[in-house]
Amino acid sequence: MEITTTLAANPTDDARLAEILSNPGFGTNFSDHMFTVEWTPADGWHKARITPYGPITLDPAAAVLHYAQETFEGMKAYRHDDGSIWSFRPEENAKRMVRSSHRLALPVLEPDDFVQAVTELVKVDQRWVPGNPEGGEKSLYVRPFMFASEKFLGVRPAEHVTFMVITSPAGAYFKGGVKPVTLWLTEEYTRAGRGGMGAAKTGGNYASSLVAQQEAYANGCDQVVFLDAQEGRYVEELGGMNMYFVFDDGSIVTPETGTILEGITRSSIIELAGKMGHHVTERKFGIDEWRDGVSSGRITEVFACGTAAVVTPVGSLKWDGGETPAPASTDLTMRIRQALVDVQLGRADDTFGWMHRIV
Ligand code: PLP
Ligand code: COI
Repeated sequence: MEITTTLAANPTDDARLAEILSNPGFGTNFSDHMFTVEWTPADGWHKARITPYGPITLDPAAAVLHYAQETFEGMKAYRHDDGSIWSFRPEENAKRMVRSSHRLALPVLEPDDFVQAVTELVKVDQRWVPGNPEGGEKSLYVRPFMFASEKFLGVRPAEHVTFMVITSPAGAYFKGGVKPVTLWLTEEYTRAGRGGMGAAKTGGNYASSLVAQQEAYANGCDQVVFLDAQEGRYVEELGGMNMYFVFDDGSIVTPETGTILEGITRSSIIELAGKMGHHVTERKFGIDEWRDGVSSGRITEVFACGTAAVVTPVGSLKWDGGETPAPASTDLTMRIRQALVDVQLGRADDTFGWMHRIV
């Protein structure tokens, strides 16, 4: 893919950038440039460009604003202590975007083009990738997204589509850093049914999660847990994270895929925990098994995982009329978190070949 680059005339100055990178939070500050490429049936993907970051013009009739034909990805770029910059399994995000886009009737962006777009943008904005000289785990969050930009109110797959990439320096996703999050079990709302879009990374799934997330906040919880839509019995995932359960014999269970997002952190943990000597099973996991297991002590740890949240211990689970205590431990959770972050930040050998050098 041929990319033209127009550099920002007034990039963020060093003092302001240092201030942002010292405490980036999550998703509030954006780097100086963005990537854009457009698609039409006649021309395919064309006009790939890196330009100064800024608002875009969209026709009020653009289909995405009405029918939510959209997909997105979430990944990070990490600065190692030697100054080099790396991404983590970017081809997995690229392939997942192909699967999501297929579900949303959007065109295929070839994985090589996806990885090139991310790589070139991070190169241009490399000073925005925070380092971690005093420990910590800051990174540059990368958000590729594709949307129906055609001006047309008929309901059919759009014939003008835009793919963009923006980046944003990131620290801890949850305010207060890594500590157990409390979860709200929604028994009223579900996020995905059979044949639905649960496995796709598309804005609509997040829109549909918000009312349940609001309920979670109203009940003093950080995140919401969704159950399967058919029986309301099996744990699926959180609004923005996959789930793991650790048993007292060291074995680990994670809900099987189908209606959940196939998390790249989730699949990496299956391999990492396996290497650490734990038996990991992907299967249906009942909500009663969670409640009973934590009460009896059979389940010793529960954790959530995703690009933004990395690996986050889960504390108590609340629902309308009840609550489990927090699981007994966070020990293995924190060791898995450390093992993953060490690979991402270049502090441990990349034995799985997950890291992709950008600079
Ligand atoms: N589940 C949902 C609904 C998510 O939004 C995310 C975040 O991307 C995940 C799971 C975890 O996926 P990944 O590990 O690829 O970031
Ligand atoms: C991610 O982890 O990348 C996500 O997209 C989830 C969202 C909660 C930020």
